[in-house]
Amino acid sequence: MRILVTGGAGFVGSHVVDLLADAGYPVVVLDRLHPKAHGGRPGYLRSDAEFVQADLADPAAAGVLEDAVGDADAVCHQAAMVGLGRDPGDVVDYVRDNDLGTAALLAAVHRHRDRVGRLVLASSMVVYGEGAYHCGQHGLVRPGPRPLARLEARRFEPVCPRCGSDLEPVAVTEDMSTDPRNVYAATKLHQEHLATTCMREGGPVVTALRYHNVYGPRMPRDTPYAGVAAIFRSALAARRPPQVFEDGGQRRDFIHVRDVARANMLALTARDPVAGALNVATGDPHTVGEMAAALATAIGGPAPVVVGGWRPGDVRHVFASPALAAERLGFRAAVGFAEGMAELATAPLRAPSRVA
Ligand code: UD1
Repeated sequence: MRILVTGGAGFVGSHVVDLLADAGYPVVVLDRLHPKAHGGRPGYLRSDAEFVQADLADPAAAGVLEDAVGDADAVCHQAAMVGLGRDPGDVVDYVRDNDLGTAALLAAVHRHRDRVGRLVLASSMVVYGEGAYHCGQHGLVRPGPRPLARLEARRFEPVCPRCGSDLEPVAVTEDMSTDPRNVYAATKLHQEHLATTCMREGGPVVTALRYHNVYGPRMPRDTPYAGVAAIFRSALAARRPPQVFEDGGQRRDFIHVRDVARANMLALTARDPVAGALNVATGDPHTVGEMAAALATAIGGPAPVVVGGWRPGDVRHVFASPALAAERLGFRAAVGFAEGMAELATAPLRAPSRVA
């Protein structure tokens, strides 16, 4: 089985390529090597994987894309613009890279649907927006965005949208409603919708892997597009304390990139492809404060500082049930939180040549 990995030079994609190539699968990497993410061809790119430099959304690259898809039995679509960006003005770039790029890929896949048997899509937990909560009176609820007045009063926990009571956060499952809260999230959900529509119209089976907060070696360094683990790691490397927003009690599921790569490999190689969305999470959530402390301890300080502010659009708690991925793919995360954070303390991060 020959596998095309878009974004195969990137953070998650390159780990997927490593696993597939180590297992003996012929792999083609298609990557644009965007200067915001790469300072040239990364040294970790394997010589036993074929490399094609192309931008999915560029009409001039259509022929290259057509050839790469035409030679593939499965496609693993990791190429995307990630993170929150700088402001909503980034919307054009997100839509171009994530929507238009995916559309070009799906059109090529459609033309080669006799050969391409499955498509594994890198989706994200951001499609859920705020996590799920239990209200003593109303059961399962999904609160909307937190009102500014509450955030200003440093009351960070969402309340029941029906009665205003305090809530208990619970794990999200794949059948829960989606509620993207930023441009990136909207494009990730749109990718799921586009790919699923193509599947229903005769295209390959689509498995959408909803990654939780991925961390590990080759994470892009501190940029407007980086996740909190990379931001904290970069701060600590410069001997600056990690700046923890809100009160540090916000919960996430931090999952190691090698586990995420393994979930991809399982989805790509399972005897029967799995249709639908699957959470890719450890099932062992931690607060951002705990993550900052674990990383600071592993690096030997300085200690994190709770600075108290918040980012517009941020959600309070979002963590997931890993049960469906375990049932459908046999996937269980293997890297524990303490072990993963200790590794991140010394892991090489990826420096872009230029940050916009
Ligand atoms: C992140 C990614 C999102 C990805 C998702 C799942 C970014 C910006 N967000 O969402 O693209 O799909 O994980 O992998 O890449 N925080 C601090 N201090 C900081 C920065 C952040 O305390 O310096 C806090 C934030 O307020 C938030 C939490 O850390 O509460 C997580 O932030 P972030 O890493 O951006 O993750 P998500 O928003 O969960």
